[in-house]
Formats: sequence, structure tokens, C-alpha cells
Amino acid sequence: MLLTLNNIYKGFGNRSDSTYRPVLQDLSLEVREGERIAILGPSGSGKTTLLNLIGGLDYPDRGTVQFNDEDITRFSARELDLYRNRQIGFVFQFHHLLPQCTLLENVLLPTLVHTGKSERQEKLERAGELMKRVGIWEHRNKVPGKLSGGECQRAAVVRAMINAPSILLADEPTGALDMGNVELMAELLLELNQLDSLTLLVVTHSLELAKRMGKIFRLQNGRLKPA
Ligand SMILES: Nc1ncnc2c1ncn2[C@@H]1O[C@H](COP(=O)(O)OP(=O)(O)OP(=O)(O)O)[C@@H](O)[C@H]1O
Ligand SMILES: [Mg+2]
Repeated sequence: MLLTLNNIYKGFGNRSDSTYRPVLQDLSLEVREGERIAILGPSGSGKTTLLNLIGGLDYPDRGTVQFNDEDITRFSARELDLYRNRQIGFVFQFHHLLPQCTLLENVLLPTLVHTGKSERQEKLERAGELMKRVGIWEHRNKVPGKLSGGECQRAAVVRAMINAPSILLADEPTGALDMGNVELMAELLLELNQLDSLTLLVVTHSLELAKRMGKIFRLQNGRLKPA
């Protein structure tokens, strides 16, 4: 199993008073390599919280997150850093591109750490190949402010893919896109899944996008239920 979440509990606030809010409660999930999973759920149900735990950006209160049978909650700071940089690609709802950097610079950001000099050229070539594949190479020297939402979101996917991760975690990647761009994003994710056997975990409010995934779960009352 590529990824296994065992009986995860996660809440926010102070456990000893009324500020405590349980979010994930006894949540378990198994993800095989190359699977495509969609996660639906109302606002506040814990979808982003769940992606953050899988991506090593936060810790569960209880339970384990295993990646290739290793518990990432026990990783050292450096191991966690490498896991995030090498195994995980993150696509956020509002792309989070740096406004002062060109698209190409944005895409290469994750290669600024843990990438030796010899690898730099390889990454630059990969950036070119991926940007051409998603149709934004011609925009490589423009800053995000000069581009459409769909173009920026495609750049965000390329940035997430630049270090060839095992899993792509996408948090409402089509949240800010119109119908035509939703379809383009769905096709891009499917292509990455099929050609690069990339495992996909996609949080979305779009049923159109969810239907393109292999499995659909609904996050409800802190747990995932097949939808
Ligand atoms: N760092 C935090 N500190 C305190 N509360 C938090 C924190 N992060 C999330 N929460 C709370 O946990 C709950 C789940 O938040 P989360 O962001 O995971 O929801 P979501 O399902 O992603 O919602 P949306 O669809 O609106 O993005 C919410 O009630 C939120 O206010
Ligand atoms: Mg969210």
C-alpha cells in the first residue's frame, strides 16, 4: 500500500475547554499506487486538514500516516522535509504562485532545495517538457498577474509535478475555474495519472471532476464514506 491512514483523530483548540473542535474522528484510508481518489464534503468538514496531515504539514492527535509502510509522524525534521519535497506534490485552491516571479521561476521553486547542481539542468528540461504539455510554455516569462486563472492553475500543477512526486494532493484545484478550464484540468490530471502513474488525491466540490476519478469518498462526521 502506498499510503495508509490508521484511525486518525485531529481537532483544533484546547482539549480541556469549549474551544475544542474535533475535525477528523477515527478516519482510515488506504491508497494504492496509481489510484485516483476524489474527496467531497461540505465546507469545514476537514478536507484541507486531511490533506495537510497526508502532506506532512500537520500532525494527527492520534493515529498514524504511513507512506510505503513508514510512519511519517515519526520522521525527523529532515526526513519530513525530504518527504514533502520529493514524494508529495501540492496544488492549492488559489494556486499560490509568487506574483513577482515569472511562471518558469514559479515552476522551478521546489527545485531550489535538495537539488544538486548536476540535477538543475534536468529539472529545467522537465519544467520545459511539462509546461509545453499543459500549454503554458509560451507564457514562461510572464508573471501570474498577466495570465488567466486557468493558466496559473496549470502552472501550479507543473510546480507540484516538478520533482516527480509519488502523490499529487490537490485542494479544490478547479475552485476558481470556469467549466472549460475544469475540463482541461480534469484531462491534465488524468493524463498525469495514466502516463506517469501518479497517484491522485483530489478534494473538490465539482462532481464533474470527481466522476473522472476512480473512487469517490465523502468526508462526513470526521470520517470518509464511499460516495
Ligand atoms: N489551524 C487551525 N486552527 C483552528 N481551527 C482550524 C485550523 N484549521 C482548520 N480549522 C477548523 O477545522 C475545521 C475544518 O477545516 P478545513 O479547512 O479542514 O475544512 P475544509 O473541509 O477544507 O473546508 P473548505 O471546503 O471550506 O475548504 C474548520 O472548522 C476550521 O475552522
Ligand atoms: Mg479546504
